Amino acid sequence: MSIEKVQIFDTTLRDGEQVPGCKLNTQQKLVIAQRLDELGVDVIEAGFPISSPGDFNSVNEIAKIVKNATVCGLTRAVKKDIEVAAQALKNAKKPRIHTGIGTSESHITHKFKASKDEILERAVNAVAYAKTFVDDVEFYAEDAGRTDNEFLALICTEVIKAGATVLNIPDTTGYCLPEEYGNKIKYLKTHVQDIDKAILSCHCHNDLGLATANSIAGVINGARQIECTINGIGERAGNTSLEEVVMILRQHPYLNLDTNINTKLLYSTSRMVSEGMGMPVQPNKAIVGSNAFAHSSGIHQDGVIKNRETYEIIDPEEVGVTESAIVLTARSGRAALAYRAKKVGYELTKSQLDIVYEEFLVFADKKKEILDEDIHQIMEIHKIDIKA
Ligand code: KIV
Ligand code: ZN
Repeated sequence: MSIEKVQIFDTTLRDGEQVPGCKLNTQQKLVIAQRLDELGVDVIEAGFPISSPGDFNSVNEIAKIVKNATVCGLTRAVKKDIEVAAQALKNAKKPRIHTGIGTSESHITHKFKASKDEILERAVNAVAYAKTFVDDVEFYAEDAGRTDNEFLALICTEVIKAGATVLNIPDTTGYCLPEEYGNKIKYLKTHVQDIDKAILSCHCHNDLGLATANSIAGVINGARQIECTINGIGERAGNTSLEEVVMILRQHPYLNLDTNINTKLLYSTSRMVSEGMGMPVQPNKAIVGSNAFAHSSGIHQDGVIKNRETYEIIDPEEVGVTESAIVLTARSGRAALAYRAKKVGYELTKSQLDIVYEEFLVFADKKKEILDEDIHQIMEIHKIDIKA
């Protein structure tokens, strides 16, 4: 069976940047957009052009410099928004307008105080209007996660007729369970007329820590685009993490799904976004956290030193991390000490190792982590020289 491509739609610069305190200036956004293009994302959502002159300018400048990816601008289902987005995107090689409206009972009743028919009409009109500016129009059904499937299928059918090329099914509030979200995508695949004319897209939020799982359930059930951010940043608990979905598909080839991402750039891109936004990456973050390839307990260290795959499912080099870290703590064993001592120049005999290990434990009980300088000190106490 041939491998099918899942498009990666990166929204770090739009949904990701909505995080309080994470505002980027245009120059910073340009640097990140260029890196996302090198990383191999298929779509860069550069911003929400009508929201401010600064955002308009950023989308406009990004549209000029991006070489490969589609550049996308967000709008509401409002004529003025669409006109402004089209203007901001006018220099893009591949422009996309992303327009849409809330479709759940809660959005229809409280936010729009409208009827389902009115929402349907606004959705269709917005897509048709966007289509007069660009060929590539993505429609989002905000709060699709809590929208009844029958209405969702109807609205998707009608916006395809109006020319939508991508149907975004956001779990805006991060409410769905993976099975539920996957079934929603499966339902749309079978109940939307002419569904083959459009790509279904997963846009999942992480309020229950399920954004990645839901996106994967979505593509397993037929979606072919994932909307995500670097480090999973985004409103509240964040969006689907780009590095996680990309590596899940890479690690499970039997799914026959893959992306265009150059995974060797994942770690450095994560750090670039983290520094630019002043948003640290949690140490235990999958794939790009500082502990993602660090081993500190003796049993694990011994296993990894004998064969990395004993406790690692990903080769760190594949995601741009130089090597696995063997962290020396009071839980470390002789194998780890010998390994780290060798790295800094000491080839220990078995009897030397027995002696320095006792010393090491005394040091380790007093410190959180034993560093290279501590190793040198331990060796000096026992008059062991670096091998020439
Ligand atoms: O979460 C969401 O519903 C969104 C849409 C505006 C696409 O970000
Ligand atoms: Zn969102």
